[in-house]
Amino acid sequence: MCGIVGYVGRPGHAHTALNVVLEGLRRLEYRGYDSAGVAVVVNGAIDSRKKSGKLSNLVEEIEKAPLPDAVTGIGHTRWATHGGPTDQNAHPHLADGGRLAVIHNGIIENFAELKSELLDSGHVFLSETDTEVAAALLATIYRSLADEVADPGQRLTVAMQRACQRLEGAFTLLAVHADAADVVVAARRSSPLVVGLGDGENFLGSDVSGFIDYTRRAVELGQDQIVTITPEAMEITDFHGNPAEGTEYRVDWDAAAAEKDGYSSFMLKEINEQPSAVEQTLMGRLDQHGNLMLDELRIDESILRAVDKIVVVACGTAAYAGQVAKYAIEHWCRIPTEVELAHEFRYRDPIVNEKTLVVAFSQSGETMDTLMAVRHAREQGAKVVSICNTNGSTIPRESDAVIYTHAGPEIAVASTKAFLSQIAAAYLLGLYLAQLRGTKFADEVRDVLRELQEVPAKIQSVLDAADEVKDLARRMSTAESVLFLGRHVGYPVALEGALKLKEIAYIHAEGFAAGELKHGPIALVEEGQPVFVIVPSPRGRDSLHAKVVSNIQEVRARGAITIVIAEEGDDAVVPYANEVIRVPQTPVLLAPLLTTVPLQLFACELADSKGYDVDQPRNLAKSVTVE
Ligand code: F6R
Repeated sequence: MCGIVGYVGRPGHAHTALNVVLEGLRRLEYRGYDSAGVAVVVNGAIDSRKKSGKLSNLVEEIEKAPLPDAVTGIGHTRWATHGGPTDQNAHPHLADGGRLAVIHNGIIENFAELKSELLDSGHVFLSETDTEVAAALLATIYRSLADEVADPGQRLTVAMQRACQRLEGAFTLLAVHADAADVVVAARRSSPLVVGLGDGENFLGSDVSGFIDYTRRAVELGQDQIVTITPEAMEITDFHGNPAEGTEYRVDWDAAAAEKDGYSSFMLKEINEQPSAVEQTLMGRLDQHGNLMLDELRIDESILRAVDKIVVVACGTAAYAGQVAKYAIEHWCRIPTEVELAHEFRYRDPIVNEKTLVVAFSQSGETMDTLMAVRHAREQGAKVVSICNTNGSTIPRESDAVIYTHAGPEIAVASTKAFLSQIAAAYLLGLYLAQLRGTKFADEVRDVLRELQEVPAKIQSVLDAADEVKDLARRMSTAESVLFLGRHVGYPVALEGALKLKEIAYIHAEGFAAGELKHGPIALVEEGQPVFVIVPSPRGRDSLHAKVVSNIQEVRARGAITIVIAEEGDDAVVPYANEVIRVPQTPVLLAPLLTTVPLQLFACELADSKGYDVDQPRNLAKSVTVE
């Protein structure tokens, strides 16, 4: 959700706080874009600007009323929770007579109680946010420590520790005080925060893109930790002031990976990066003979052999990746596999125990709903494996093992390359378990792996034919509703196709299991209704292909415009299709890695043709760090 940046540098350093913070916010804007603000510490005072709307509004504001050069600053892009997206509610929030500035991501659950306490003691609030309550609390504690802690920087740290002891909920907080010219203090509980280590300068960010232009040395923080940065040092404690340690790691991508690279949007770039996203996810997990090595799955083999149920927990697109994985895992491993929306899982008293393997899918590794499901599962004794794209994020840290997808940074709010690489990673997990438990022989696993290795080139050939799909999207840009049908693994693909269109083109779209059509949804079909149908391979088992071809006929007979995604050489669909989009032949279970791609391209082009901001769709944020 909100994007957070903090910076401290030595005086005379090449970077100014304002430049670093604004550049960091530009890179983090995908996390939230309702409003933006910055505060700098300069000449023993705080100077700040904030503005509703996109970051460009804030930049304009600063051009009109420039901020002085400073070595210490914080900045924020907001995705509104408490209080609408107004100038007033934008961060930073000031307290202590304008000498303390605070920015925040998350939700402070006991803010009402704290607010009434602070109101009773005479505090006046200017906004409706929970952040201003945290700022007021911090200021009150800071003032009360005047005799106890002489150094203002240390006093701010101790005040933050004590304030956090009183806060409930999930939060990342950053604070600067006019008394402490070169100190930023930050706190995190269940909300993202990473430290960047520079030379004579240090950084804070919601994720590493906040400082990737300046350093690739990052430090992940643990739960309930406070970090104080100065130009030369970083000090970590828990909320009670006990020293704590972070884990340093090197970011394995550079700033260029977070640029559009000539594409009109990050989304289009990321769709086009899918061959390499899948390839990178497979790479390093196969030895030279094509055998699967999943060294990172550090869970005792005896435990994995004893697993009697798998539960996938995830949200949105990641949950659809989980639904695709279910078909493969059940088929290969013969382990009953459920897919549960993470926010539903925890609240329905799920049957989970030491014999359950919970697999959490999350691109960001910070989705609060998924994190809570992970915690709940572990409390019940289950082992948790996460499939994640973000190194050092909270969900993998709290899991028993992690399989990282290596898709590179996903900046567009609508997930694309993460989806395909999550499926690829889940397939590796499924094959590994199948081999371990003896439901597949090593040579059978090798056969699937060989097919998987051919997928990146096949995705590329779908991308090479993008113009046709784009042309179709432009022709259909006036559609008010689009339906998507699929069966078996095509069903989650249909759901994903519909989600993409809703998210970025704001068109009503529904995905259905094609077999369900006659049980209700067919009533929606009337003359001119566009219906995408994802057709399984005719080489697949049973009569699935024939059934889906019948479904195409059924909607076509009722006036639908049918857009069929079918394998090369599948001529049976031609008589009933208004449009056919071809994908290369591939085994049934791997087909989602191909059939999803035209749907992503369709949504992206259609939204673009309507003039929408494809990368930052309204009301959405990239990483949903509140429940
Ligand atoms: C849709 C989309 C979301 C995410 C969901 C989970 O395009 O991006 O539905 O998939 O919010 O996010 P992660 O994977 O970060 O947990």
